[in-house]
Amino acid sequence: MKQQLTIALSKGRILKETLPLLAAADIVPAEDIFSSRKLIFDTNHDHIKLVVIRATDVPTYVEYGGADMGIAGKDVLMEHGGAGLYEPLDLEIAKCKLMVAGMKDAAPVEGRMKVATKFVNLTREYFARQGCQVDIIKLYGAMELAPIMGLADRIVDIVDTGNTLRANGLEPMQHIADISSRLVVGQPSMKMKHAVIQPILDQLQRAIDAQR
Ligand code: ADP
Ligand code: PRP
Ligand code: MG
Repeated sequence: MKQQLTIALSKGRILKETLPLLAAADIVPAEDIFSSRKLIFDTNHDHIKLVVIRATDVPTYVEYGGADMGIAGKDVLMEHGGAGLYEPLDLEIAKCKLMVAGMKDAAPVEGRMKVATKFVNLTREYFARQGCQVDIIKLYGAMELAPIMGLADRIVDIVDTGNTLRANGLEPMQHIADISSRLVVGQPSMKMKHAVIQPILDQLQRAIDAQR
């Protein structure tokens, strides 16, 4: 009997790009994830199950052993901090950038800058490294609205095409990090379930190479 393995997938944007990569690594859900209200899915392997959860919950599940491994954006992993996780693979999907942005042609901020973001921890660390003290305003979405409404001077958010910034009169100002989705493995699982995890890592690596 092979050891049981649970993989946590981020629902939303990443999922569409995740499933072809898993399929190329011969892991296929037993039913259509998109048309189901289920949260746990069997696969073509008796020992592998998939759970589909909010992107921000993936590192938490893997850290506490609720799942053995998971797939999440580097932004989410930076915000989580990475405790208890190995990050063996860059899946090279859902590529985007993490940036500071503000109103187009905004004047430099005098005094303490107000920054709106859902990435509170990484934003604090980023500005601290720049020697810049900021007030952080936590939001859960539509960060681009905050400077327009006078809620904040700057935002820290994901930028891909730049369309959302442009459409709202904002511009990118500083590049914080290049983002893509990563495979993470819980540290105890990597040790205890290495025999079932290593072949999956090898197959995913081949699938990543093939998609380039
Ligand atoms: P959420 O509801 O938490 O914003 P999404 O499904 O929108 O979740 O995003 C999940 C992940 O996809 C993010 O953590 C990020 O890594 C990546 N991502 C977010 N926005 C974009 C984008 N516009 N283009 C490419 N990748 C993105
Ligand atoms: C993401 C991100 C930006 C936008 C960037 O938002 O938070 O708003 O995409 O992409 P672009 O540069 O190609 O316009 P998303 O659509 O995921 O909305 P939400 O996370 O606020 O629900
Ligand atoms: Mg989003």
